[in-house]
Amino acid sequence: MRTEQPKMIYLKDYQVPDYLIDETHLTFELFEDHTLVHAQLVMRRNPAAGAGLPPLVLDGQLLELLSVQLDDRVLSGNDYQIDASHLTLHPASERFSVDTSVKIHPETNTALEGLYKSGTMFCTQCEAEGFRKITYYLDRPDVMSKFTTTVIAEQHRYPVLLSNGNPVGNGPQDDGRHWATWEDPFMKPAYLFALVAGDLWCVEDSFATMSGRNVALRIYVEPENIDKCQHAMNSLKKSMRWDEEVYGREYDLDIFMIVAVNDFNMGAMENKGLNIFNSSAVLARAETATDAAHQRVEAIVAHEYFHNWSGNRVTCRDWFQLSLKEGFTVFRDAGFSADMNSRTVKRIQDVAYLRTHQFAEDAGPMAHAVRPDSFIEISNFYTLTVYEKGSEVVGMIHTLLGAEGFRKGSDLYFQRHDGQAVTCDDFVKAMEDANGVDFTQFKRWYSQAGTPRLAVSESYDASAKTYSLTFRQSCPQTPDKQEKLPFVIPVEIGLLDARGAEIALQLAGEAAAGATSRVLSVTEAEQTFIFVGIAAKPLPSLLRGFSAPVKLGFPYDRDQLMFLMQHDSDGFNRWDAGQQLSVQVLQELIGQHQQGQALVLDPRLVTALRSVLGNEQLDQAMVAEMLSLPGEAYLTEISEVADVEAIHTAREFVRRQLAEQLFDGLWQRYQANRAVSKTTAYVAENEHFARRALQNIALSYLMLSGRPEVLAATLEQFETADNMTERLTALAVLVNSPFEAEKALALASFAEHFKDNPLVMDQWFSVQAGSPLPGGLQRVKALMEHPAFTIRNPNKVRALIGAFAGQNLINFHAADGSGYRFLADLVIQLNALNPQIASRQLAPLTRWRKYDGARQALMKAELERIRGSGELSADVYEVVSKSLA
Ligand code: TRP
Ligand code: ZN
Repeated sequence: MRTEQPKMIYLKDYQVPDYLIDETHLTFELFEDHTLVHAQLVMRRNPAAGAGLPPLVLDGQLLELLSVQLDDRVLSGNDYQIDASHLTLHPASERFSVDTSVKIHPETNTALEGLYKSGTMFCTQCEAEGFRKITYYLDRPDVMSKFTTTVIAEQHRYPVLLSNGNPVGNGPQDDGRHWATWEDPFMKPAYLFALVAGDLWCVEDSFATMSGRNVALRIYVEPENIDKCQHAMNSLKKSMRWDEEVYGREYDLDIFMIVAVNDFNMGAMENKGLNIFNSSAVLARAETATDAAHQRVEAIVAHEYFHNWSGNRVTCRDWFQLSLKEGFTVFRDAGFSADMNSRTVKRIQDVAYLRTHQFAEDAGPMAHAVRPDSFIEISNFYTLTVYEKGSEVVGMIHTLLGAEGFRKGSDLYFQRHDGQAVTCDDFVKAMEDANGVDFTQFKRWYSQAGTPRLAVSESYDASAKTYSLTFRQSCPQTPDKQEKLPFVIPVEIGLLDARGAEIALQLAGEAAAGATSRVLSVTEAEQTFIFVGIAAKPLPSLLRGFSAPVKLGFPYDRDQLMFLMQHDSDGFNRWDAGQQLSVQVLQELIGQHQQGQALVLDPRLVTALRSVLGNEQLDQAMVAEMLSLPGEAYLTEISEVADVEAIHTAREFVRRQLAEQLFDGLWQRYQANRAVSKTTAYVAENEHFARRALQNIALSYLMLSGRPEVLAATLEQFETADNMTERLTALAVLVNSPFEAEKALALASFAEHFKDNPLVMDQWFSVQAGSPLPGGLQRVKALMEHPAFTIRNPNKVRALIGAFAGQNLINFHAADGSGYRFLADLVIQLNALNPQIASRQLAPLTRWRKYDGARQALMKAELERIRGSGELSADVYEVVSKSLA
């Protein structure tokens, strides 16, 4: 809750800390109705901060100060100053120690930041600024310290006591309580601190590092989940090996622990040696988790593990540098997932996500640069821009340097900055120095917000046999109002001849023709590249692999897109050609709907997808991706003014047409794949993911036909599947179907079977919240009364409210504003309980500029109602006020 007027913090105001904390000794006494935290901070004046002894201003929030001591002197009330967020002391020497005791209340902490309880267990979340809710401290990432932690709790309720680093001792006390002490030999900022106490079981394994050290691996969960840890453990071992092989990075402690907790604001947290995870990002087994959930677990386990180097050993100087660790670590986990599964499919999924969600953020009121230069509440900047666009920026460095040059750069970065808290500039500098290149202009990607547009035009000179491509870049205004300068845009391209073969590429002025795919660096506002020796007008394949996070425009006609779908050697671009074709067709239908005309589908889309469906050579996951139409959220993002009804109607019309016209092909592939699924035990591996992906998208189309044999197949799959991927798809297909009796039965039996598994119930909520059938809001409101729902659990909020407002666009954007009112009520309620979650759920309302005047007015009215609703958290205040600015 806000205690003072929230104020903007600026990167330009950064100053080194006045004091340093060499050692941090913590003792926690955990009780049912309070916790005592004793801290001894061994401190000294920071020599880099100048002369004299300025006041020592420690951060602290919601702490009840019991005692404070400077060296041996117990301080009294006039020796220090205290306010709602600071404790100010007056050191009298360069070196001193500060001892404090505070009382805190994890048992009533619903914000899930600092020390809190999830069910019966105690756990922490300190990133970004949660440590100040645990004890008075210099809670900033450039203050790094050596931590020793003792935890004391009742033996019976909390047999397991964990913290960062290595265990150095434990024992019973004579009052039924016991203690454990942990020591972390690595210097770290407070945001990487963690503590866990609970009645937990663990799955154990070990890993031999590349230098032959043995590391104990443990995944701690509540006893009922002990059978759902193997996939995460396998993922962890693969991640450890991959980071050695691809980045040369070895793990550095004797033990690595993961703890699964049910109440968690985000996916997971990379605390040194003691990662804390949302249980949804750890637990996975065939019967209860989908293929997508298995892949998410693999990716998040890898992400948090990789932070051990990109984030922990080398950390951030300040929170404006967040992408230094997050963009780089997302890039690393994407490379890992690509290597474990299919590189092309991983890229397609990441790009579809980026274009839909990050592009929307970049075009909205919260738009910010990858390295923002101001913020009110840092929790609001754990964004798609910092994570996903940040990863794209690192990916462009990789594209420009090549794999080998990039590795030289990352080696230098880790070696040069090990143990330091650094900036995005330091990262780029290591890349430059290791490769002898100049990235001055490239760095605009870190400072300029907004998604660049790249308009491409061509011209062919038959007599000179030259082919020219002209690129014009521009970047729309963003709320920071800064002038945009040209970016460095790496554009990977190829040229196809009339048979679809690749042409060897030779630019004017070059000695000889070379590769058939190459990267052009577009660095100017307008720039032309001339290819020579081109016998006939080619067809360009542009931005292969999505080599830069831009909106590229080239005037392809539909026949050319069909040609690229067939012939492009770049798998990503084959998919993208299909998406562009679909977008053209859908936009035409949206226009027809708006004009009140009958909808007429361009038969070329059916022809193109029929040929994809019939291609048995193609990776089945690719077939599934190519059969997936651009989503309504993406169609919204690319609209000038999004017409919710027209988008939904047009897209549903195409889906029905495809279902009808491709019925036989879909049915044949469905049956073939389902037959394999029936006779194969579940395996969480790529080829099996691919088979089920195609099987399931086929089923979702087939059900649109309403044919009885499809209903029978769906029921059969629902009832007999041995895995959640097939069962949940069948459930979703039923939920979206007109078969009311079957739907009701399936929902009831699913809930009865899985009522004790909260993660499965989340899926059950989501499937219903996302259903576009009429009456969506009433269904969601009814589900909020279900015994398995609670507004205090972020996963539940995301599963029900997030899925409704984020995916069920036709219902959420109901013309009467009921969806908006509902969301605003919820945000007001959440603001008091959990500001981080409240502010995230608010995102759909911030996009009001995308809609028609009537909806804009309704959405703005709800934002204003939130603004006037009372004491706002800094989190909600920032998003609401920026949205209305
Ligand atoms: N550093 C975490 C991650 O990338 C993010 C995170 C976890 C977080 N929990 C949080 C950020 C709470 C803010 C608040 O992987
Ligand atoms: Zn991260």
